[in-house]
Amino acid sequence: MPLDVTDLLGQLTLEEKASLTSGSSFWYTTPVQRVGVPRVMVSDGPHGLRAQPGESDHVGLGESLPATCFPTASAIASSWNPSLLRRVGEALGREARACHVSVILGPGVNMKRSPLCGRNFEYLSEDPYLAGELGLGIVDGVQSTGVGTSVKHFAANNQEHDRLRVDAIVSERALHEIYFPAFERIITAGQPWTVMCSYNKVNGLSASENPWLLNTVLRQQWGYQGLVVSDWGAVYHRVPALQAGTDLEMPPRAASPAEIVDAVTSGALDETVLDQRVATVLELVSKAMAVLDVEETFDEQAHHQLAREAAAESAVLLKNDGGLLPLAASTRLCVVGEFARTPRFQGAGSSQVNPTRVDIALEELLAAYENATFAPGYGLDPGPKDDPLRDQAATAARDADAVVLFLGLPAAAESEGFDRSHMHLPANQLATLRAVCQANPRVVVCLVNGSTVLLDEVSAHAQAIVELWLGGQAAGSAVADLLNGTANPSGRLAETIPHRLQDNSSYLNFPGDSSRVTYGEGIFVGYRGYDASDVDVAYPFGFGLSYTAFQVTDLTLAQRGCVVNGDLAVDVTVTVTNTGDRHGAHVVQTYVRDVQASVARPPRELKGFGKVALEPGDSTRVSMTLDQRAFSYWSELRGEWVVEPGDFDVEIGADSRTILLTERITVDGPSVAAPLTADSTLLEWLQDPVGSGLLVPLKNHSALLQDEHLVQVIGTMPMSTLAGFGQGLDENDLRALVAALPS
Ligand code: BGC
Repeated sequence: MPLDVTDLLGQLTLEEKASLTSGSSFWYTTPVQRVGVPRVMVSDGPHGLRAQPGESDHVGLGESLPATCFPTASAIASSWNPSLLRRVGEALGREARACHVSVILGPGVNMKRSPLCGRNFEYLSEDPYLAGELGLGIVDGVQSTGVGTSVKHFAANNQEHDRLRVDAIVSERALHEIYFPAFERIITAGQPWTVMCSYNKVNGLSASENPWLLNTVLRQQWGYQGLVVSDWGAVYHRVPALQAGTDLEMPPRAASPAEIVDAVTSGALDETVLDQRVATVLELVSKAMAVLDVEETFDEQAHHQLAREAAAESAVLLKNDGGLLPLAASTRLCVVGEFARTPRFQGAGSSQVNPTRVDIALEELLAAYENATFAPGYGLDPGPKDDPLRDQAATAARDADAVVLFLGLPAAAESEGFDRSHMHLPANQLATLRAVCQANPRVVVCLVNGSTVLLDEVSAHAQAIVELWLGGQAAGSAVADLLNGTANPSGRLAETIPHRLQDNSSYLNFPGDSSRVTYGEGIFVGYRGYDASDVDVAYPFGFGLSYTAFQVTDLTLAQRGCVVNGDLAVDVTVTVTNTGDRHGAHVVQTYVRDVQASVARPPRELKGFGKVALEPGDSTRVSMTLDQRAFSYWSELRGEWVVEPGDFDVEIGADSRTILLTERITVDGPSVAAPLTADSTLLEWLQDPVGSGLLVPLKNHSALLQDEHLVQVIGTMPMSTLAGFGQGLDENDLRALVAALPS
């Protein structure tokens, strides 16, 4: 029976209401047995359940119940397949039900502003559109099982350094165009049961105490109906947080209920505000109670199989010179690298899962290749043993038909809680790479890392490269599937791999200092930044190879609706053909470019994608629809999304740097220029069709206004200043001009 929230609000005492707005322990809400309100449990996390019914912590120290560890976010985002994320979400939901967990604390959809962020492995992409579509897949999947989600960490939580105190100074435009859209998409289309507000400040105010974030944007602009929970320890001032819109403080602090009671009693807090928060908590508990009495189990084997499929689909084939991959079963294989037998498949911190089992790549490869040998090649802790290990690996590699070399980041290199200081692979591993490649040129490098690493040296030496990311508990079997061709790689990079850290647009402003970080690059995050600065990159956003080949042809666009009605839409259709000799999947990527804009815009932005699997020789039409938002930018001037009329290129890319097809459309709509006033500049008047018309008579009498060079020199001055100086016009002229403007 659902709770009768209105009735309960009438029965609860002030103390009980105050206690309901904090948890009762690390993972439980507060019960009020007197009136039949049970406690419900929440648990991390994004790629596997970390249910701790007993001893608890939020940094991944303590044991949790065994659960399937699916690929981490940076891995599964590379699948570019929202339905895969939905299936993983459904599996997470089933596991949560089996553990009586009502809300899963994920997905994390913060943008990868810098490759250094320690938690990038938990985040999906550098692109807000992609992150939104993929995050929605998880939320829909989990919530279809009757379990809630917590979309986190809202907002502008893009670094670990000083994460509890740092103030992210970020423009409204960058918030709306880059840092909000993934949340907005998931909230408007998926209504997640909860949203987790972040630790940091956003433009001066902690997220948990930020009414603009939690009420104006989240609830009023996006229509959010669910509950806002604080990140664990993100409430710094209890009453302001309640007033700003944080419904539930986690974990509880002993002093909190008394602080709230005092504030209501003294009149500092309006009790109706408390009632609103309590109502939201009770509504959550009411929905969440459904899992309390279920007696369910989940199919460990089936979930492991899904984790294996997901890990294979998450891998990105970055290089495959001479078609070295896949490797036939008869290949005399030399497997090198400690990571082959000591797998790293997830990251550290609150998302750490206690896996139901772990597939070891080495065992899987030894089973798949009869003639396989192994050499560790390097130690996970660099040291004197590295030299003999390297020599031994080079000797073993020499006699093989091909070498599979595992390289990656050791666990200590990346984690929740701190950021990286560089993007390099460990030096001892690179030394092994050089030695092995010298002994045998037929080297496939398999990478295990949560955040991107610099790959120029690897690309220079290895013949093939497979980016596996942190692929979850079945990554070991998935890599065997990929190498032997049972699975055909279809992942695409959800983030750019640059040549140098310095090329990233956040470089000069990350991670800030003195508890302040300025998002100086504005909207130019990820490929938007590399493209705008025309910087060469190692592997662009959207890049990924396959064992088969695809052709994309016949781009057609059909425009519908109009800007004024807010329903502009463009239907985009292409034909995709598998021209190779294997089954495989291709990702059609649609980018939009504003050909000429009056504000700075990225050269291109991803606005649609679709993944399609095809048998050799088969073709299909792939369609997607671009809505009005796909052509809009956030106008700081107007405080809203606007479309600037004019030409737009719709580009179909194999990746963000390889555009295969382009068609131009012209969009009509009202001008986005600010209305003319006496303070508009001479150039603004001249560029405006009405303004320039009004200036014609004046121009005929003014030598100054007729001199193009002088107009350029004084053109950026406001008309009021020019009139004050008597330059080309006087105060009376200006008054007449302004009066003649259409109202
Ligand atoms: C993390 C959250 C996590 C919470 C509970 C916090 O430290 O930032 O992502 O859900 O702990 O473990």
